[in-house]
Amino acid sequence: MIELLRRFGGKFRRYMVIGPACKLIEVIFDLLTPLVIAQMIDKGIGAHDVSAVVRYGMVLAAMAVIGISFTLVCQKMAALTSQGMGTDIRGALYQHINKLSYAELDRFGTPSLITRITNDVNQVQLAVALGVRMLIRWPFLAVGSMCAALAIDLKLGMIFLICTPAIGLVFWLVMAHCIPYYKQLQAKLDRIALICREGLSGARVVRAFVREGHERERFAQAADDQANTAIAVGKLSSILNPVTFLVMNLGVCAILWVGGIQVNVGELTQGQVMAFVNYMTQTLTSIVYVANLVVVFTKASASASRINEVLNCEPSITDEGNQPVALPEPGELAGGAAPVPALSLSHASFSFGAGAANAVSDVTLKLPLGKTLGIIGGTGSGKSTLVSLIPRLYDASAGSVCVMGADVRAWPLDQLRHAVATVPQRASLVSGTIRSNLTWRDGAATDEDLWAALDMAQASEFVRNKPQGLDAPVEAGGKNFSGGQRQRLTIARALVGSPQVLIMDDSASALDFKTDAALRHAIRERSVRGAAEGGLPLTTAIVSQRVSTVRDADMICVLDHGSVAGLGTHDELYASCQLYREICQSQLRCEELEGQQGSAAPASAPIASAFVCAKEGC
Ligand SMILES: Nc1ncnc2c1ncn2[C@@H]1O[C@H](COP(=O)(O)OP(=O)(O)O)[C@@H](O)[C@H]1O
Ligand SMILES: [Mg+2]
Repeated sequence: MIELLRRFGGKFRRYMVIGPACKLIEVIFDLLTPLVIAQMIDKGIGAHDVSAVVRYGMVLAAMAVIGISFTLVCQKMAALTSQGMGTDIRGALYQHINKLSYAELDRFGTPSLITRITNDVNQVQLAVALGVRMLIRWPFLAVGSMCAALAIDLKLGMIFLICTPAIGLVFWLVMAHCIPYYKQLQAKLDRIALICREGLSGARVVRAFVREGHERERFAQAADDQANTAIAVGKLSSILNPVTFLVMNLGVCAILWVGGIQVNVGELTQGQVMAFVNYMTQTLTSIVYVANLVVVFTKASASASRINEVLNCEPSITDEGNQPVALPEPGELAGGAAPVPALSLSHASFSFGAGAANAVSDVTLKLPLGKTLGIIGGTGSGKSTLVSLIPRLYDASAGSVCVMGADVRAWPLDQLRHAVATVPQRASLVSGTIRSNLTWRDGAATDEDLWAALDMAQASEFVRNKPQGLDAPVEAGGKNFSGGQRQRLTIARALVGSPQVLIMDDSASALDFKTDAALRHAIRERSVRGAAEGGLPLTTAIVSQRVSTVRDADMICVLDHGSVAGLGTHDELYASCQLYREICQSQLRCEELEGQQGSAAPASAPIASAFVCAKEGC
């Protein structure tokens, strides 16, 4: 909490001084009130002097009005500080989360980051508001009342001195048991957020697999678990108030008893006894409020450490000090200079955690400019992980990855990610319009550029059919588009802004074979046209589980459990790589496999009934 105050409190220092100062003035009036009442009782009521009662009454009213005015100023300062700090913390968290690399995001998990940026910041905000308003009030009132009471009479003060530690002890015992629970509560909220997110974002799948009951059960368990902890802590802390008030009222009885005797013998006046009772209640109530403050601060400190954990997490992928990389001159190619490898991986390996097995293991390959790399392999073979090393979404744990001859770690991240356009496996669009989604890579792209990209991505037809065209709305997650349409829009998005390298991670999986082939043809044409127009040809890496998508690639990399099982052209691999041959046999028709030995088979051949055919040993 202190660390957060140090980081974000500076701007609000003035408010944090004025607020408590105003509160202090209110507290002084509160402390004086019992004394004025005592005077009112002794000099007004006791002496049957109505004018004295009215006079003291007016003093009390004036004190109340002044006190309220200062309270209002304090409230305003508290609101400005807490809301301002909350907004700043949220902004800083969001900004910092955006700087974190995939590895850190994986470590925290999205639901936990969401709870930290919402619920945890709210807890801190509440504590700051209470801190400005109450941190001075209750301790001051408690100590001030105690001193004032002792000043009235030391003998009665002994009762006070017994009650206060008794309440302090109860308070300490209860708090010591409650604090661990508050920390657990936040972690349990994270779990609820996780289940909620999974259940709601996957609502269609849940329904399709009739898993609603299971999901409800999972949610109920998490909610019950959180509720049980909250109830346990609630039960414990509910002891606090009754016990405190019991001790307090016993104290009041004792004061009235002893005070009554002293009034009888003329050592004290009735007004002094009343003032004493008032101070006593004020002190003990203050202690109860201090206890509540401690609860709020304990929760806030658990939240603050979760917020600090994110803010202190250094992004593992940075580009500090990296100078812009000079791209190869198109003339170098035309002049027949030594070909520059657009992509080159040298013994690149990657693992998701210290103890985890390598998801990518010792991959070495070189892809010249303008060529196409196909990556094929079973599910979980490391295809997505391998291509995510190219735009440096993850850093290789060993070996190196170079783009245009320069190590990705030497590129400025913006330049690298502008040069390398990625179409992720999961097509993700954000709410807005088609135009706002397409211009992510190049905010200044013209309509002509956007239509050219849509044409290449085989998406222009359905966009043209929309009455608003490029300005047609896109709902959150692109829900108002089909899976195939979403994929085509994300492909078009990657093509806007003339990338030098295009990575498509299984991004044509929802396209039919004809559209998939037309897409690859358009990309190849664009690459050739780019080179002819004096630019750099487009280099492409296509990840797919379909042989038909990668068979035309200049180089195919077959992945098996993260390692390269084969590298070469379709024909070479069919002849030499058993795994590749097996994949082909499970997918291609007999004629294609036969054609394989001699002439190349058509790129977009349909594969209906292929599986049966291959199984029957064609
Ligand atoms: N974020 C992650 N955290 C931990 N392990 C992961 C993560 N993403 C993928 N993996 C693991 O890495 C391996 C390769 O995954 P991936 O590259 O997605 O495979 P593919 O794209 O070939 O289906 C799998 O075993 C998978 O379980
Ligand atoms: Mg994948």
